[in-house]
Amino acid sequence: MMDKKQLISIAVDGPVGAGKSTLCDALAEKLDILHLDTGAMYRAIGLYAIENKLPLDDEAVFEQAIGKRDIAVSVDYRDGAQLTYLNGRDVSQELRGEQVGAAASAVSRFPAVRKYLVAQQQQLAKERSLLIDGRDIGTVVLKDAKVKMFLTASPEERAMRRYRQLINAGKTSDYQTVLEDLKARDYQDANRATDPLRPAEDAIIVDTSGQSFEESLEEMLEIVKKAYDQS
Ligand code: DC
Repeated sequence: MMDKKQLISIAVDGPVGAGKSTLCDALAEKLDILHLDTGAMYRAIGLYAIENKLPLDDEAVFEQAIGKRDIAVSVDYRDGAQLTYLNGRDVSQELRGEQVGAAASAVSRFPAVRKYLVAQQQQLAKERSLLIDGRDIGTVVLKDAKVKMFLTASPEERAMRRYRQLINAGKTSDYQTVLEDLKARDYQDANRATDPLRPAEDAIIVDTSGQSFEESLEEMLEIVKKAYDQS
């Protein structure tokens, strides 16, 4: 389907809990390209903010820290899996918690943070074929991507998946709280002034509500195949 020498860039955006991470991992594997989870990069800055007790509403603090190179985020791959580094330390295993996610959502509002990470993501996409997932990939990072998908599902379904994940991981959780947190994050991501979450005009919407993982994966794979077969 795809020419190995050709550089492939696939953009996947969507709200929290739409299944982007796991679906993109599986899709990238099927396509034999790497998956760049850009949320992990925002999360690394969220982690930095938590560890250094930075005020999450003070843009100037982050602008300065990035300008002075006090915050350096980088990404590497080992056996096809992404490793995310914060100031040279591998923080890949420390990024998944709710607290880090909320901090990431807060710091991702700041133009200085976005500019810093977007430049890196664009550079990575110049060097290798990537399937990139995030919130602004189709609209900002890979404006010219041949394939753009916007993955979504109803808030209730996304909250239920998240709730099950937490319960399965042995954490105490309450569905209503998960739903309310998710709606708050949707609102914050979609209403920030800089690069808010929205589908690119040329994105194909993939609504995973009521779909199994395999069905969603198949739909995404078909979209990619169609785009590359037509070229
Ligand atoms: O996908 P995630 O939940 O790991 O992302 C964490 C936060 O980072 C999310 O609330 C919004 C922000 N984000 C962003 O603004 N732009 C991206 N490309 C990826 C994530």
